[in-house]
Amino acid sequence: MNFDESTLTDAVLARMDKCQDARFKLVMTSLIRHLHDFIREVEPTEAEWFAGVRFLTETGQKCDDVRQEFILMSDTLGVSMLVDAINHRFPGGATPTTVFGPFFVEGAPNMPHWGNIAEGLPGTPCFVQGTVRDTTGEPIAGAVIDIWQTDGVEGLYDVQRPNTHYGRGKITTDAEGRYAFRTVQPISYPVPDDGPVGDMLRRMGRHPVRPAHIHTMLNAPGYQTLTTHLFVKDDPYLESDAVFGVKEALIAEFVPQQPGMAPDGKHCDRPFSTVHYDFVMAGA
Ligand code: BEZ
Ligand code: FE
Repeated sequence: MNFDESTLTDAVLARMDKCQDARFKLVMTSLIRHLHDFIREVEPTEAEWFAGVRFLTETGQKCDDVRQEFILMSDTLGVSMLVDAINHRFPGGATPTTVFGPFFVEGAPNMPHWGNIAEGLPGTPCFVQGTVRDTTGEPIAGAVIDIWQTDGVEGLYDVQRPNTHYGRGKITTDAEGRYAFRTVQPISYPVPDDGPVGDMLRRMGRHPVRPAHIHTMLNAPGYQTLTTHLFVKDDPYLESDAVFGVKEALIAEFVPQQPGMAPDGKHCDRPFSTVHYDFVMAGA
C-alpha cells in the first residue's frame, strides 16, 4: 500500500509472482514497464487519458469481419513492419517480405499460365511474368502464388464493394519455375481513413496513401512463405507509404507499351504495360 509514482511499477510487477507462463510473464513485464514509463514521460491529464481510452474503444468498435481497425493502427504506426522484420530475417538474396494488409481472402481461384485475375476490371491492362527460384538460383516448380490487388481506376479491393469478387487469383509455377498472369496496372490508394485511425493520421499531419502495388504470397513445400508486394517504380508515394512497407528490392518497372501483340501471345487493342519480376524464396 501507499504506492506512489516511484513504487507503483514494481508493485504491479510483483503481483505476477505466481504466473506460471514464462513467456507471458516476460511480455506482461515489458508491457507494464513501458506503459508506466510512457505515463511518467507524458504526464497526461485525466482528460487526455480518457481520450486515449475512448480512442481505443472506438478502434475496437470500428472492427467487423471486413474492417480491422487495430491492424490498421499497427500498420500505420510501423508496428506491423517491425514484427515482419523481426520474423523474416531471410538470408541475403531472398526476396524481402512486406506487410500482409487486411484485404487478403482465402480461396482465390486457380488460374492457368497467363490467366487474367482482373477480367472486366477498369484500368490499364498489365502483363506480369517472371520466375520463382531458391537462393542458389534453382527454379522452384509448383510454387503457388496468391495474388490480390485493387481495380486500376478507383483503387478499391473487391471486399470494399459489397458482393463483388475481382483482382484475385492463384498461379502455380511450371517446371522451369515460371509464372505469368494478366491484370490491370495498380494505382496508389488510401487505406481506409473514415475511422479513428484516419483521424489519428490527420492529427499527425500524415496522408493515408499507399503507393501502387500488387500483393503476392508465395508458398512452396520446403520454403518459407513469402508475403510481399510488387511496387510500381516512380510512384510518387514510394517514399511516404502510409504503412512503411516499401523496400527497394520490391520496386518493379511497369513498362508502358503501345497496342499490339501482348506477352500472352494475344493482340491487345489498348496501351498496356509489362512487368518482369523474379522472386527468390528462402528455405524453411
Ligand atoms: C494493403 O496494402 O492492402 C494495406 C496494408 C495495410 C493497411 C491497409 C491496406
Ligand atoms: Fe494493398
